[in-house]
Amino acid sequence: MKQIGTGIAITGSGSATPATTLTNDGLSQIVDTSDEWIVSRTGICQRRLAVPAESLAVLAASAGREAIAMAGLEPSDLDLILLATSTPDDLFGTACLVQARLGAIQAVAFDLTAACSGFVFGLVTAAQFIRAGTYRNILLIGADVLSRWVDWSDRRTCVLFGDGAGAVVLQASDRDRLLGFELRSDGTQNSCLNLAYQPQSQSLLEDTLIGQGTFQPITMNGQEVYRFAVRQVPEVIEKALFRANLSVEQVDWLLLHQANQRILDAVATRLKIPPEKVISNLAKYGNTSAASIPLALDEEVRQGTVKPGDRIVASGFGAGLTWGAAVFEWGLK
Ligand code: ACO
Repeated sequence: MKQIGTGIAITGSGSATPATTLTNDGLSQIVDTSDEWIVSRTGICQRRLAVPAESLAVLAASAGREAIAMAGLEPSDLDLILLATSTPDDLFGTACLVQARLGAIQAVAFDLTAACSGFVFGLVTAAQFIRAGTYRNILLIGADVLSRWVDWSDRRTCVLFGDGAGAVVLQASDRDRLLGFELRSDGTQNSCLNLAYQPQSQSLLEDTLIGQGTFQPITMNGQEVYRFAVRQVPEVIEKALFRANLSVEQVDWLLLHQANQRILDAVATRLKIPPEKVISNLAKYGNTSAASIPLALDEEVRQGTVKPGDRIVASGFGAGLTWGAAVFEWGLK
């Protein structure tokens, strides 16, 4: 029998983006590209870029603060802060820096890395702590500053990415609003999309060699990633809906990782979801990786488009490769 109060309610959202905007016309002064090419191939018009003083922790904490306030909680009510990111301020983890900024003194905090699937993977991870009865109030943040790791001389990738943060609060509830999910990984296709560590051999002693280096900028096989997304995302969404015992028609919103409008359109077409149910804000922000789903959700919630009780199917996909989908009802406890 299900324990009382081990269902999941998603009760608050928040977001933060840097003030600096880089338009497609601005980008075409950096690399050989054009507004026409970028808009027609991706749907992206501009992206936000973090200045050096805008750390990941600053953006993540701003988004988190808004989500906590919407949920009607105080930072000290949080039991756990999960930060989904691939671009930490500190490789040892950035979640604790966010915890300190928020003053969430009771919360345990750690990072979770699953690239652009980070938010969906984080949602399911957070849910397990609530379902197990371990924690009641969890802040999940998706945040990335990919501008730090983009090769700004590579027009095939630099036009795609932007910086930002989004957050939700999950709370224990008598009714479970997380209706179904499915997560997948395939490391055999890892080379499609990398932000890889490149070691340089360094000899400490004659027989003691170490590899000290740095991370290399993002490399991507765009067409492979495109094909992967269009093939796998509809399938994983169908599996999550099956677990939720719901049909596509019973979903109010399709909320995909905001990678490329063509991917959004192709997935919606395959699932026979009409365009008016597809949430899209990538024209303004580009691909913000782990931030893109909660950032888009928060905008729709604050505009009043997504309403309490609305049924959303969210799907993240990206490096790893990783992909996953979660079906949930927004806002009700
Ligand atoms: N401006 C102008 N021309 C360009 C640009 C640019 N920015 N980028 C590439 N081109 C050129 C290429 O050089 C190529 O020219 P050529 O035919 O003379 O060689 C031509 O445009 C076509 O290039 P393609 O790579 O075939 O372009 P495509 O239509 O596949 O679009 C894109 C490229 C937008 C990257 C697409 O493949 C895509 O969206 N893929 C998915 C990428 C994605 O979503 N990645 C993020 C995953 S999430 C994560 O985990 C980070």
